[in-house]
Amino acid sequence: MAKPLTALREPESQPESRLPAHVQRLQRPQPLGRAVELAFLRWEKRQLASTEQFWRDFGMHVVESGRERLLARGTGNAPGIAMATRGREDRFIGPAFGMSDDTDLQVYLKTLDAKQLSPEQIPGGGRGVELLDPVGRAVWLVQGQARAEPLPNRSPVTALSNSAVHAPRVNRTVRTPIEPAKVIRLGHLVLQTVDFAAMTAWYLRVLGLIPSDVQYLADGSPNLVFCRLDLGDTPADHHTLVIVGAIEERYEHSAYEVIDLDALGQGYQVLRAHGYRHVWGIGRHVLGSQLFDYWRDPNGFELEHYTDGDLFTADAETTYSPFDMGSLWAWGDDLPASMKPQMNLRALLRIARLLQAKRITVQRLKLISAALKAPARPWL
Ligand SMILES: [Fe+2]
Repeated sequence: MAKPLTALREPESQPESRLPAHVQRLQRPQPLGRAVELAFLRWEKRQLASTEQFWRDFGMHVVESGRERLLARGTGNAPGIAMATRGREDRFIGPAFGMSDDTDLQVYLKTLDAKQLSPEQIPGGGRGVELLDPVGRAVWLVQGQARAEPLPNRSPVTALSNSAVHAPRVNRTVRTPIEPAKVIRLGHLVLQTVDFAAMTAWYLRVLGLIPSDVQYLADGSPNLVFCRLDLGDTPADHHTLVIVGAIEERYEHSAYEVIDLDALGQGYQVLRAHGYRHVWGIGRHVLGSQLFDYWRDPNGFELEHYTDGDLFTADAETTYSPFDMGSLWAWGDDLPASMKPQMNLRALLRIARLLQAKRITVQRLKLISAALKAPARPWL
């Protein structure tokens, strides 16, 4: 008789209203304003040329290519989704969020020591402020950016997908162009942090986000949150910002929406043909449900193409599940080792410093490490 595959299990989750007694509810501070868009990400790069080439091959549309600044957009109506300035380091600077018209940016100047941005700094102009998150990462809040005219993109082939019960495609074929997966828009950003509680409280307060899914450690303490924008009755992506408790402060990845699964697949072919480093995919996520494909840019930063993600209105209840790697994907290849924290000398030194500075406890380290070590799919 075949051995039962105990790891082949449905992911477990509970709505916030029916949380088990040992699970702590994620605290939600009173928001200072309301983010309505993840507008763009800012980078510093020593060489703009290699980043520009990658952005083009990844399917972004480069709109400004100067000696000092690089700006790219998608086919959607955002004037820019990625901005790189030339500098001494290759690093992620920080995100810019579009804020609702009824958000008062003055509040951030007064309460969080933000500083005013000039319209020339912001793609599409408008107004904005810069503030620093708990680890000193620069976060921009912007309003009044001029929208761009959308660029042409092909229709999704999904509407003409044949299934055994519904077959609209007759006397026609599927022939999608071999081209970079046209990026439509910037979808989400994932950040790792040592002080999960402080970082999460800060972003929820500053941006008025709604936790869609929370994952907790074995002691019931939250260690990962998928947050969506509060757009009221307008459906919002399951997550726009994800914060994960880890052993360093780090950009983990950012994700870009493409039109359909065939764009994801053709994009994979093109990036592979150009010799870029593939990370993970194609697969389907559990939390957020996106079809995904992860790549590295020339400096090693991860970027994701995705399509077919979940959408929720503001009234959908937060759900909770245990923090474990297996819940990251429904099907597809195993999570690559490079996406898990590496236990090398540098990591050990980092842990030693965190313990010495009392920024993390031994107990918490053990809980995170146990969750990361548990094999997600033992047969892979
Ligand atoms: Fe993602």
